[in-house]
Amino acid sequence: MEIPFTSQQTYIDDFSASDYFKTYYVDGEGILGEWTNFVLQNLHETFTAGGVKGDTLLDFGAGPTIYHLLSACEVFDKIITSDFLEQNRDALQKWLKKDPGALDWTAVIKAVCELEGNRENWEKKAEKLRSKVKEVLKCDALKSNPFEPVVLQPADCLLTCLCLEAPCEDIKSFCNVLKNFKALIKPGGHLLILSILDATFYYVGKKYFSSMTTRKDELEAAFKEAGYEIEKAVYAPRNDTSRMDICDYKAYYYIHARKPE
Ligand SMILES: C[S@@+](CC[C@H](N)C(=O)[O-])C[C@H]1O[C@@H](n2cnc3c(N)ncnc32)[C@H](O)[C@@H]1O
Repeated sequence: MEIPFTSQQTYIDDFSASDYFKTYYVDGEGILGEWTNFVLQNLHETFTAGGVKGDTLLDFGAGPTIYHLLSACEVFDKIITSDFLEQNRDALQKWLKKDPGALDWTAVIKAVCELEGNRENWEKKAEKLRSKVKEVLKCDALKSNPFEPVVLQPADCLLTCLCLEAPCEDIKSFCNVLKNFKALIKPGGHLLILSILDATFYYVGKKYFSSMTTRKDELEAAFKEAGYEIEKAVYAPRNDTSRMDICDYKAYYYIHARKPE
């Protein structure tokens, strides 16, 4: 579907955190079961056998979600999460404060506990993540310092899931964001990007949002051009094509890159 590029103002006016959660992540109904498994499995491996750990993890463009932080909280002392939209940052704060109106991530938390061989302790896991998240910041991928006016110390790891296809119009803009991310990462530090290939749009509530169409043949070249070393690249096809009307991506990707020493 040809969707015109979604402006920042449209995001501010029309992106609903609760509709996004309901459409994509709510237990048993959200369309992203396959995606969530892809992310949880890859990040579990990265933060265990993969040996990625450190003092600070910077999470970029979380939306209203926390699923991707559940393994990270075992190996980082401090997590700074972020999103462009106030409504998403509010949803994150509600979950952190156990507000009665918070989004319910219980099923995903249990799934990560299962991956880690510790299913019965899901409430402790949630508490651990809450204790590690120290800040929820505003970010804008299109600024040379995406956290402006806040200046952050470079982190051991920058993680971003399903985000850059929203603000970037094309691979050139995506590559530019990767270049700007380098100031946010320590020398030798990690950049972990998990997202989707070949999408043109996604649907939230009653609105369609554009997606940059990330192509496999351009993706790794963008990381190299931005000056990273690729440690690992994982691609998996979308098997469940039942809801192409909600989002038309064809595959999942995970790039683990490093900023050179
Ligand atoms: C598809 S959602 C992904 C949310 C979440 N990371 C996930 O994994 O489900 C796209 C996200 O991009 C964010 N976004 C839109 N414009 C942005 C910008 N200029 N800079 C950073 N993030 C932006 C939106 O607020 C939204 O949270």
